[in-house]
Amino acid sequence: MNKIEVATTAGAVQATQTQGNIAVVIDVLRASSVICTALHNGAKAIIPVETLDEAFTLRSENCLLAGERQGFKPEGFDLGNSPLEYKPEIIAGKDIILTTTNGTRAIKNSRDATEIIIASFLNLDALCSYLLSQPLDVCIVCAGTENRFSLDDALCAGNIISTLCEKSTAVNLTDSAFAHKTLYESIGWNLQQALQDGCTHYSYLNHNGFATDVDFCLRKNVFNILPKLSNNHIISYC
Ligand code: MLT
Repeated sequence: MNKIEVATTAGAVQATQTQGNIAVVIDVLRASSVICTALHNGAKAIIPVETLDEAFTLRSENCLLAGERQGFKPEGFDLGNSPLEYKPEIIAGKDIILTTTNGTRAIKNSRDATEIIIASFLNLDALCSYLLSQPLDVCIVCAGTENRFSLDDALCAGNIISTLCEKSTAVNLTDSAFAHKTLYESIGWNLQQALQDGCTHYSYLNHNGFATDVDFCLRKNVFNILPKLSNNHIISYC
């Protein structure tokens, strides 16, 4: 890896940032944390789609519909967007069709990249080891919240960049990568407090009964997993 940059929302990512590069898509609260958890717990593949209609159209045997609108499970779906719902006994061996407000859109908007990898705090070290072994430049795509900057994703991006810089002197930071690294290094040491102080989506989830999800999504390096998109299926490469 040589150059690294950051797109701050799903809507902000440009083809010129991703073409020929590795896109690393982050939606800490909660889509990318859900994808990592589901694959770790034995899901066969995650199929990201943008709309509820697409999800219903693709529904078939041995697959589950999953995701959220305004944070809650859509009517007629099997699973919501809480990582703790994705238990092995429910999802092992199944395809999961996933549609979320920002996370699955960030994946779609990264489609010009040579590779698309899904990242969260849960699989941070596995991701960093992989990136350091690759020759391509990297664009970290933060999902954000409805096209607004979101502090959870920004701090995860900063944590990834900070870790890469600790492990290699060859990392070349763009302005956006430098800014995210600096942000993480100044307030990321106390993640819960930083998000409590400045993350709207963190407060929204906490006030709507999802506090245990939030705690879970902020745990680091729980899964040695590398979710990668191939033919519109996200599967694990670790
Ligand atoms: C999203 O993709 O917008 C999020 O994962 C929303 C959520 O917290 O469920």
